[in-house]
Amino acid sequence: MLEEFSEEVRGALAQATQTLKNNQFKEPSIEAVSLVANALKLNKISLYLNYNKALSNSEQFAISKLLARRLNHEPLEYLTGYVNFMGLDFMIEPPVLIPRPETEVLVETLVEVARDKKNPIIFDIGTGCGAIGIASLKFLPNARVYASDIIDLRLARRNAIKLKVSERIRFLRGDLLHPFFEESCGKGKADFIVSNPPYIPSSEIPSLQPEIRFFESHTALDGGEDGLFFIRELIKTSVVKLKKSGMLLLEISPEQADTVKKEALKYFESVDFIKDFFGRTRVFLAKYPKLKKS
Ligand SMILES: C[S@@+](CC[C@H](N)C(=O)[O-])C[C@H]1O[C@@H](n2cnc3c(N)ncnc32)[C@H](O)[C@@H]1O
Repeated sequence: MLEEFSEEVRGALAQATQTLKNNQFKEPSIEAVSLVANALKLNKISLYLNYNKALSNSEQFAISKLLARRLNHEPLEYLTGYVNFMGLDFMIEPPVLIPRPETEVLVETLVEVARDKKNPIIFDIGTGCGAIGIASLKFLPNARVYASDIIDLRLARRNAIKLKVSERIRFLRGDLLHPFFEESCGKGKADFIVSNPPYIPSSEIPSLQPEIRFFESHTALDGGEDGLFFIRELIKTSVVKLKKSGMLLLEISPEQADTVKKEALKYFESVDFIKDFFGRTRVFLAKYPKLKKS
């Protein structure tokens, strides 16, 4: 393929690939194409279609600048400004968490259980760039989402507009379920509460790979001493905000499953787990909230 590019584009791709390879990046040629395309303000397909072009000084400079940032371990998605999640292109920018492939299992599970509901109401807690709520709406045409986060929600709002679901999603800023007690959200209760909360134990943050540790927000990652702070809070409080037949769906780390199950059975009648594509327990599902008699 490389021989089909102009000499200059070919040279830039070969140099970027080699430099990334020398620095132990795992997919040097794939990353090089993304970096060069982005520096030339093209998507990858347009790069292939415009391969036969000379590079200006400013284009060469843009390529070197992006390559230097990548060598500094800035995530590729922050450099290109896009991440593909559930087949949809989301805009992304630092330090908002880059949606991960394993979170697609959470969305797929939600879509599966919500498909037969007539007009499901979904609360997406810790929405970040809006990935879970927005992707769910694309697959559930009659659903409505209320998406919250403690961080600024402008990026999530822009994604909702870009992906044409803004009429069915409302954004609320605040701590976990607190905004849902303050504002009226439909009848106030959800059919589904879904979240990929921060769940990494604080002590593990310093050993995460540099892409994550130095560039993504620790607010999106740090789940407290045992990683379960937000999970416990959500299990406890969601009972009050779920309809009788409601369900809580959370992304978890596989080793948290036993503790999560024990905790959840205090508040829900039934719990279940779904594995990710590597066979690791990844999604936690709790049904039938135990309602305290007042
Ligand atoms: C692991 S990220 C998930 C982001 C996005 N939902 C996804 O799956 O790509 C966790 C998210 O929870 C948010 N968050 C952290 N603490 C929060 C809190 N107290 N209340 C609401 N959201 C919080 C973070 O800002 C971050 O966006």
